[in-house]
Amino acid sequence: MRLYVNIDHVATIREARRTDEPDPVRAAVLAELGGAQGITVHLREDRRHIQDRDLRLLMTTCRSGVNLEVAAEPDVVRIACDARPMQVTLVPERRQEVTTEGGLDLSGPETVEKVGRAVKQLQEASIRVSLFVDPDAAALEACRALEVEAVELHTGEYATATTDRSKAQQLTRLHRGARLGRELGLAVHAGHGLTYENVTPVAGLPEIEEVNIGHSIVSRAVLVGLERAVREMAQLLREAPARVKAPGRWVPPLGY
Ligand code: PXP
Repeated sequence: MRLYVNIDHVATIREARRTDEPDPVRAAVLAELGGAQGITVHLREDRRHIQDRDLRLLMTTCRSGVNLEVAAEPDVVRIACDARPMQVTLVPERRQEVTTEGGLDLSGPETVEKVGRAVKQLQEASIRVSLFVDPDAAALEACRALEVEAVELHTGEYATATTDRSKAQQLTRLHRGARLGRELGLAVHAGHGLTYENVTPVAGLPEIEEVNIGHSIVSRAVLVGLERAVREMAQLLREAPARVKAPGRWVPPLGY
């Protein structure tokens, strides 16, 4: 099981102030040191979090692999082809949505044709392609027909199921989807809404080889890191009177 860490929300915090911190490129290094086997970023058409600059830098600094999520739209697919990440995951995208809602709808000929064009372009650039879909037979058959290397099963409905019964039903649905995916020769990934509380049953499905997790990890990082961050600022304030009196050039004390 490979853990791909989605660092979009590090950039979300940065974009809340349109400043230069926290830098998702630095976060990617820390995620790798923590054991991430890959870094996932979603270059959304409205650039609400990850920016083109982030992708450019990640492509030269990541020691693992970059999994780039994009919509099947010509402008971002072109950027993906130029950047040449290890993997591109095609996702549906709506401007009004808070986060990706549901998998790609591959039931109509127009979307299939559009996604197919993007898949071909990416594969011609030697990029492994994964499609983010709901864990249903029709969607998985459509992925097989598009000759992609992998699928990412949308775990959102599992994550938001509120009763034990519906959770168990969604887990069974994911397991069936994962099994069918493997039977069709597809590598099976999973993601969306996975947390420290709900990940174990999904990670225990033997057909799933990769999970993409973002929000829960970044949320936990804020909490487990906050105490240290406050302590460092408090120390800076305590030391300020002595520091301003000290002769010589003032250097920031914390090594940012
Ligand atoms: N997989 C895909 C295709 C996604 O779009 C997202 C959210 O950007 C994730 C996984 C990660 O979801 P979460 O942030 O809920 O862990």
